[in-house]
Amino acid sequence: GRVCLAYSGGLDTSCILRWLLDEDYEVVCFLADVGQEEDWDEVRAKAKKIGASKMVILDLRREFVEQLCFRAVQCNAQYEGRYLLGTSLARPVIARAQMRVAQEEGCDFVSHGCTGKGNDGIRFELAFLTINPKIQIIAPWRVPEFYNRFQGRNDLISYAAATGIPVTSTKAKPYSMDDNIAHCSYEAGALEDPSIPPPDDMWTRTVDPQAAPNEPIDIAVLFEQGLPVKLRVGGKEYTDSLELFIALNDIGKRAGIGRIDIIENRFIGLKSRGCYDSPAMTILRLAHLDAESLTLDGQVISLRDQFVTHHWSKLLYSGLYFSPEREYIENSLVFSQRRVNAEVRLRCYKGSVSVLSRNSETEKLYSSEEASMDSLVDFSPIDTTGFININAIRLKKYGIQKAEEGKS
Ligand code: ARG
Ligand code: SIN
Repeated sequence: GRVCLAYSGGLDTSCILRWLLDEDYEVVCFLADVGQEEDWDEVRAKAKKIGASKMVILDLRREFVEQLCFRAVQCNAQYEGRYLLGTSLARPVIARAQMRVAQEEGCDFVSHGCTGKGNDGIRFELAFLTINPKIQIIAPWRVPEFYNRFQGRNDLISYAAATGIPVTSTKAKPYSMDDNIAHCSYEAGALEDPSIPPPDDMWTRTVDPQAAPNEPIDIAVLFEQGLPVKLRVGGKEYTDSLELFIALNDIGKRAGIGRIDIIENRFIGLKSRGCYDSPAMTILRLAHLDAESLTLDGQVISLRDQFVTHHWSKLLYSGLYFSPEREYIENSLVFSQRRVNAEVRLRCYKGSVSVLSRNSETEKLYSSEEASMDSLVDFSPIDTTGFININAIRLKKYGIQKAEEGKS
């Protein structure tokens, strides 16, 4: 059979590639460029050397930014109050492209190097099965013949040596990383003890906030229908979505914005410690929240927070991008955003981003005259007396009840 393997060039997927070949599969390797640091030529050469029939590398950065990252921004997406979902957002784009490659290359099988304990394997496979219900999945880390034979890194290193797989570094990486244009994640290994802070030299997408320049970087982000369409910084303008996102990552990196260190609950129920640095996503999330605050109706904000933001984030985390419920929620999200047109000015400074001001040329929900403490145009104070009295009807009853309970 022919297998399309998600290949990263690392030790695990290199051994999986070799093992699939040993098992008599023909292997087409696939690697998605979602903005990670990578030596593409080296990966290509390595896959060929081990015996892949083909190595397909696709640049998915624009698709990733426009279809997933910007949607997350529109939604103020956040998992368990802090995680901006960098890895979760990349998975649907990667899985979809891998299935495209599998089809083009006539593969009946797909394979990946995810373990049985994480979220990624679930995300990839739910996506694969939705896109092509007939696809057959080989997940070696869940195949007894594989995991009984390779019980740890040392077994993989011996296998690599025995089969002539070039091992770039025999030293185990101190943590498991997943890098893309939205963030870099760091988990496991040296981070497993949550009582120990992460090492200073771990972070790759942000400088240490304390080492960031003493001069703030002021920027402006323009939103149309809730989507970032323009970035202004120091006399420069970016309107191309990918360039805008990369420029924001660069600004956020220099100012040390977007680091978090959390304990999260994985889909399978395990608690896990994860560190993430997501500069552009952190800036855009705040900017978008602020654009909404000026342009979106208060009750819509409230429902969107409770329903759309919460569920969309959880769905993405749980690998349910390709699902009817995601489609349903997203329709409502896009509808809610049609008047979110505003420019937000922000200050990036030593690890934090704060709002300086906002304005909208099209939205008229906010009126400084109406909100003013010094004006009574179109407002009769006596109405507020009635409003308070009506709202107090049931509260007075509750007050009486509480007083009686206190006596008994
Ligand atoms: N815990 C994060 C998530 O589930 C990051 C996962 C990183 N994946 C990896 N294979 N290192 O989204
Ligand atoms: C893995 O299982 O390969 C990584 C961890 C995760 O998916 O959360």
